[in-house]
Amino acid sequence: MSNKLRIGIIGTGGIAKAHISAYKKLPYVEIVGVADVIPSKAATFAETEGLTEAASFDSHNELLKLELDGVSICTPNVSHHITTVDALRAGKNVLLEKPMSVTLQEGIEMTQAAKESGKMLTLGFQPRYDPNMKLLQTIVQSGRLGNVYYVETGGGRRRGMPGGTFISKKLAGAGAMADIGCYSLDMALNTLGYPRPLTVSAFTSNHFGSNNIYHPEASNFEVEDFGVAMVRFENDLVLQFKISWAMHMDTLGATMFLGTDAGLKVTPAGIGPWSGVWDGSVGSITLFHDEFGAHTATPIPTIEHKLNLFDQKVHDFAEAVRDGRPAPIPGDQILIQQAIIDGVLRSAESRREVSVELPQ
Ligand SMILES: NC(=O)c1ccc[n+]([C@@H]2O[C@H](COP(=O)([O-])OP(=O)(O)OC[C@H]3O[C@@H](n4cnc5c(N)ncnc54)[C@H](O)[C@@H]3O)[C@@H](O)[C@H]2O)c1
Repeated sequence: MSNKLRIGIIGTGGIAKAHISAYKKLPYVEIVGVADVIPSKAATFAETEGLTEAASFDSHNELLKLELDGVSICTPNVSHHITTVDALRAGKNVLLEKPMSVTLQEGIEMTQAAKESGKMLTLGFQPRYDPNMKLLQTIVQSGRLGNVYYVETGGGRRRGMPGGTFISKKLAGAGAMADIGCYSLDMALNTLGYPRPLTVSAFTSNHFGSNNIYHPEASNFEVEDFGVAMVRFENDLVLQFKISWAMHMDTLGATMFLGTDAGLKVTPAGIGPWSGVWDGSVGSITLFHDEFGAHTATPIPTIEHKLNLFDQKVHDFAEAVRDGRPAPIPGDQILIQQAIIDGVLRSAESRREVSVELPQ
């Protein structure tokens, strides 16, 4: 057996290709196995991807019998829980695709499994690897804004509703809130240092998804295509969060951080029907402050880069496993946003403010 890092892939659909492409660029990694529940899909995938040395399986549990340093979990949301828990219990480190889970309880069990196994559970949020996200965090955490008391974030696609497993309540858990909202939430919360949420008041709708003029699978559309939420945090911080897979509007506005000493406005990059949300990169950053009594707006130059963010996230996982570092984007941190999404759904359904249920 070589002394390379031994990696397995669970789920061989669309996003698995990005994981394979990233691993292939690392000379110290070998992909030793792939698994998919659809009989022989993994074998076909291995062949198409040129993974001549990789064994293929029709069950993730068969794959997990191999000696592996880590697995990428690339299944639909509904299978994140079972595959993650089984992988951790089998002693494998896990890089899990977003969003974390269908239900909050599943997320709790997944982080518990990570703790008990001593193995890594890290989440695949590639926007974190945009250097401009790190710049935002540096600015906000420098204290330059003073006490940050209000944050507004989210965004919307003019049109951009997926289908298949993404629109099934049972298989996806939530719609736009989980699919693209998880990125906005992570951007804002990571910038702020993941404060503790207390309550959520939310509204959701699916006027586009349930209308066959806009969606070919309208009769199967069970999740929200729009959501807005007011989230209260400890220390009198409030976040207004809005997200849309489809709308008659070009943008839901910029992200803003209002502080007692300065404010920060951030716009997403990109144009077109799928732009305007934080699954992409940063367009502009502006600091609003008073200088000698004058209202001043200072553009903060964004960092130009040609990084492939998908590669970055997979490489960070592989390096963390190789070097024995902690999880780059740990499960117990992302559980906080899973708890917010859970609160959004409960609040929207009950039409009232609810407490965010965070495990101790
Ligand atoms: N990070 C990103 O930008 C990004 C982009 C797209 C999708 N995703 C996420 O990746 C996940 C997969 O999305 P996709 O578009 O690749 O889906 P997909 O349907 O193309 O592929 C998923 C594959 O997993 C297989 N599968 C289902 N249950 C399984 C199990 N228990 N064991 C093994 N295989 C199983 C399916 O048969 C399918 O082949 C979703 O959670 C999605 O949210 C992330």
